Parts: sequence; C-alpha cells; structure tokens
Amino acid sequence: MNTHEETVRLEVQALSDTLRAYQKAYYVENRPLVKDVEYDRLFDRLQSLEEAYPSLRFPDSPTLRVGSDLTSEFPEVEHTIPVLSLDKAYSSEALSSWMARTEAKCGQDLSFVVEEKIDGVSIVLYYEKGLLVRAVTRGNGAVGNDVTANIRTIASIPLRLPEEVTVAVRGEVFLPKAEFLELNKGMEVPYANPRNLAAGTIRRIKSSEVAKVPLRIFVYEGFWQDQSLFADHLAILAELASYGFSLNPTIALVCKEKEEAEARLEKVSLQGSALSFADVDDYVRMHTAERASLAYEIDGLVIKVDELSVRESLGYTEHHPRWALAYKFESPQALTVVENIEVQVGRTGRITPVARVVPVLVGGSTVSNITLHNQTYIDMLELAIGDSVEISKRGDVIPAVERVIEKNEMGNGVWHLPDVCPSCSSALVARGGHTFCPNVSCPDQIRSRLEFFVGKAQMDIDALGPETIGVLIGLGLLKDVDDLYTIDYEKALCDQVGFGEKKIAAIKMGVEKSKAQPFRRVITSLGIAEIGKKAADLLVSSGIQSMEELLAIADRDDVERLTSIKQIGPKIARLLIDGLNDPAMRRRIAALCEAGLQCEEKEPPSKAEEQSFAGQVWCVTGSFEQFNPRTLALDEIERRGGRTTSSVTGKTTHLLAGSGAGSKLAQATKLGVEIVDEQRFLSMLKEEKTAQKSGQMQGEFSF
Ligand code: IVH
Repeated sequence: MNTHEETVRLEVQALSDTLRAYQKAYYVENRPLVKDVEYDRLFDRLQSLEEAYPSLRFPDSPTLRVGSDLTSEFPEVEHTIPVLSLDKAYSSEALSSWMARTEAKCGQDLSFVVEEKIDGVSIVLYYEKGLLVRAVTRGNGAVGNDVTANIRTIASIPLRLPEEVTVAVRGEVFLPKAEFLELNKGMEVPYANPRNLAAGTIRRIKSSEVAKVPLRIFVYEGFWQDQSLFADHLAILAELASYGFSLNPTIALVCKEKEEAEARLEKVSLQGSALSFADVDDYVRMHTAERASLAYEIDGLVIKVDELSVRESLGYTEHHPRWALAYKFESPQALTVVENIEVQVGRTGRITPVARVVPVLVGGSTVSNITLHNQTYIDMLELAIGDSVEISKRGDVIPAVERVIEKNEMGNGVWHLPDVCPSCSSALVARGGHTFCPNVSCPDQIRSRLEFFVGKAQMDIDALGPETIGVLIGLGLLKDVDDLYTIDYEKALCDQVGFGEKKIAAIKMGVEKSKAQPFRRVITSLGIAEIGKKAADLLVSSGIQSMEELLAIADRDDVERLTSIKQIGPKIARLLIDGLNDPAMRRRIAALCEAGLQCEEKEPPSKAEEQSFAGQVWCVTGSFEQFNPRTLALDEIERRGGRTTSSVTGKTTHLLAGSGAGSKLAQATKLGVEIVDEQRFLSMLKEEKTAQKSGQMQGEFSF
C-alpha cells in the first residue's frame, strides 16, 4: 500500500469509528451526539471514499447500515400489519389542495378527521382474544422490537379488553412536557427532548425502571380481523375508547356542513371540533399558534379520510397510505447566539422574556428578537445568555428558539425572570402559566397600551410614535389612552427638543382625525386580550351597535349573547366580559366616549341592503385581497340575506372564487353555477349601494 492509500485507510477507519459511535447513540440510546448535517457530512465523505477505493469498503462499514430503531437487546418480531408512515405537507394550502384532490379522485364528498401528530414513539399493540400479547416498536415497518414487558407498565394501556377481540392498535407513547422537565433535572446527561427520553425509557432493560417514568399513550388506529364492521374512522375511535384506551380528545371532523360534523361527533359521543371545509385554515392556524402551550409535544397535524370504504379504494404506496397526510409545522432553521434576554411588559401587564440574538437570516427575513414566552419555555430549553442556539420560523412566520446547540463559555446559568417588574418594581405575580406586573399604572404597561392604541390597526395616529409617547409620559401628562384627547399639545411640547410647529400640528391633526375611526376599531383599541379586529367585526355584525349595548352585556354577564355569535367561544366571551368589567377599563371607555370617539356604529345595514342577496346560495373558495380572512366575504353575503355553504351543490347559485380556487371551481363549472371573482363581487356590493341610493331618490321624486 502506498502512503496515499495508507492515509485514506486511516481516514476511513477514523470516519467509521466516529459514525459507529454516532449511530449507536442515535439509534440505540436515543441521544444524538451531533446535528444531522454533521452526521450526513461524515457519512457522505466515507461513502465517497469507499466508492473511490472499493478495497477499503469493509463488511461492517457504517455505510452498509440502514437506519432503523431496531436494537439487539429486544427480540425482533414481524409485524402482522404494515406499519406505514405518512406523506407530508408543509403549508395549509398544500393541506387544502390535498383534500380537494382526494375528493376529486374519489368523485364524491368526503369527510376528514384531523388529529394532532404526537411527537413520541410509535407502538403497535397486538391483542389476541382480548389479551395484550405483544407490544412492538415500529422498527423498519415490517419488523420491530418486542418491548411488551416495558409497555405493560404504562397504566393507561389495557392488558385485557372488555371483549375477546383480535386487534392491532397503533398509538404513540409520549412523555408530557412537565414530566420531562422534572425527570430530566435529575439526569447526569439530560435528554434533548421528551421524545428521546420516552424512546430511551421504552428500551430500558429493567421494566421496574420503566414503571417509574410516567409515560402515556394516545391511540389513533385499529386493525381488526374484520374491518368491515366499521363504516368510518370515527367509529374506530369510538370503539377504541369503549375498550378503555386513551384517545387524544383534540380532534376535528371536517364535513361539507359544520352541522353534519356536529351531529356525527355527537352520535358516537366523541369530543372534538366540528368544522366545515372553510374552517380548516383557521383551525390549522390556531393549532400552530397554540402548539407551544400544549402539555405534550406535537410536530404537526394528521388529516385522515373518515370513510373506510374510500380508504380501501385509495390504497397505499410502499411508504404511506393515500388516505392520510401529515401537516408538519414548517420550520426553516438557522444558528445564532443569544446576546441578551430582556423582559417586556405588555399592555395587560404580561411579562414576556425576549431573546436579543445576533441578527441572522431565516426564511427570507432577518431575525434579531425572539419571544421566549415564559419561564417554563426557558427552563425547557435550559437557555442562558451567550448560548448558541438553533432557531426556526414556526409556521414560516414567528421566530422561535428550538434548542441550545452549545452552552456559553462564560459560565452563565439558565436565565430566570426577575421577581419584580423592571419598569415599576412591583412584585410580579404568576397567573395561568404566565407572569404579570399587577400594577395598572406601571409606566411600561401604560406605554404598551398607548403604542397599541395609536397603532395602524387601531386608532392609526402615525404622528404619535414611540418617542413622542415617551416624552409625554416623561412629562407626566400621559397616564392613560384617553389623556391623548385632553392634552394641550402646544403647551406641552413647544419647549421640547425636536418638536417644531409642524410636528405638533401633525400630532393634533392625527388625534383629531382618530375620532372618526369606526366603532369596531374603538373596540379593538381597548386592547382586551383576544379582542382584535376579527372579534370586533363579529360583535358589530351580530348587531351589537353601541358601546352602551356592549357594556350592558358585560353588566348582565351575558356569556350566551356572545357565544351565540358564530366563531365566538366561551373563552373569548369570558375574556371580553372580564376585560369590560375592569374598573380602570370602565373609566377609560367613559372618557373615550366623552372625548368624542365613535361609540356607536354609524351605518347599520339598511333593510334593503340586507335583503339584496336574498334567495341566493353562495359558496366562497380560494383567497382574496380585500376579504382576508374569507369570513369577511361571508359576512357581506349574509348581511344581505344570502345563504352561505361550504361546498358547491345543486342548490348553489354563486361561487365566489379567489386565487388558488381548486376543486370547488371545477365542480361549480360542471354544475353551471355563476362564478364571481373578487373584482365583480366588490362591484356587486357597490352596485347594491348605488341602486339603493337611486331607489331612495326615485322615492323622493314620486313622493
Ligand atoms: S396515523 C397508517 N395518526 O407519525 C397510519 N400517526 O410520520 C399512519 N403519529 O409513524 C399513522 N400521531 O408514529 C397517525 N394521530 C396520528 C399520529 C401519528 C403521531 C406518528 C406515527 C407515524 C408517524 C408518521
């Protein structure tokens, strides 16, 4: 062997040793030692050396090993059902278009069940004549490891079913986040995440050790000898529940009509959200946003065709069923360093820790500030100032710190929230997982309330920027939002540096103009948690036309009046009523109305306007520029007496089609339904107003 070959041989050996250690850590111990990119780099290097020097490819090379979760300590057993994986999508558009394509492929209306994609360990539980005989890991899909003794320690798995059935049940074993944090605290080498700890536990040799870990399971599929006993997935879930399995209650059923979904869930006594197709987008968005606050980790949603006969006809690929799809929360990633952690005091007093990071480009924009939510989140990450971190853009929008890649070398420990408010030194209080400054007069709270109040989507006073607000607070003139309408700006600002005549005039004009902002914006500007533009629009469209009426609802604690509005649930209703009943809020509202803000809706829809779409049945699909969210278009139709439905049927008279309209557009064309685009819809709404005006004129003439 020449010296060059000798050098290569040494490199192959070193690479093989390192990769073997990484593989063992990853596949057997569930403790990844390096990032995937680093592993791939070494793997690729070894592979290319072996290709160039075939004599150096040894039979035990790590490149000959295909990754699977198999380990030698647990007997390998063959699965008697194919344990398939799922096809993936990364955007809610891809999800909607998959549903439309699947419907088109089947040529019939379908319903879909949406479940959470639990980030745990996939397990198949085999029952024979009602007895748990085997619990097997997914392995490579055909062969898995028999981990029955360990799985038996999970309290929520029935060892004997109430019926003597032979069934294979698929589920996900997981460890809730809080339990993970608690357990990981005591570990010498902590696990990176709850999934790894759960997977590591299932592979412990001693079942008595496994029993000490509070593992849980959610089951989501059942395979009986005679599957034809069930018509749909809901029936399977209901049957599994009746056997005593624990099911994830967070599911949704998507049907053509929401009412149908409601009725079907009720029929099988399952909890869950009833959705029409038009609601799917919002459901996905809401879930993406709420993911961090769940008690367990999920890495997406799974959407499945409900009808089992259709599942059969759609069939399978080698890798996945064609009747299901995983929607993964998209997260383009990047590496950066946490330079500092600061706390912000929000308009409701909520304290939010924010990481200031070295600016880095992620998913097309530069990220320099990242919210860290609360102490639990920081504890989970074990984050300290100076740490190198991997960050992502969740759902492609909100940056998040995913994990610590390298601890800082300054010896900084895990960062902790202060005990007192950094702005007013009041002792902070904990409420429902978050920390609050209880002092309503806290300068930072006032500042946040003011900045929100003058913001673009509220009173839109752009002449009043954060600096001016800061100056006015500093002068002691601005203690609450209503002060904006009583300050003598000339007197207050004429001696201040940077405030010339023009600037002062612009501020005065901006404040004056804001008095014309419509009632719904006044509602939003109050800054009550969860009461943004959409909620305000819903309230006003439902007939709440004045502040007086709104306050009367709060006085009566009339939750039902609010929940009778489609899309307003009990949680939002409670937040609104409590927000309005706060004495400081009452004073503020009275002062704002006194100052001349619009405290009633100026243009209630006239009777004629309400009826102009009467007798018409509209379906709305695709996305729009002016009607975003789409519910705004639905509101306009309903306000005018039209009916709206979520699918195109023989009864549909109009289809409002925005960009990206898919199968509904095809269906409407087939059925000869009138198709209206956004431009035409807008002119129909305008025409309506003009027609009405000329009608009134004629009325006047003939009078
Ligand atoms: S259904 C044929 N439902 O995700 C049925 N899987 O990426 C395929 N998973 O291996 C699985 N939550 O371990 C299904 N509600 C859920 C799930 C779920 C988590 C896991 C499962 C699967 C992996 C596919």
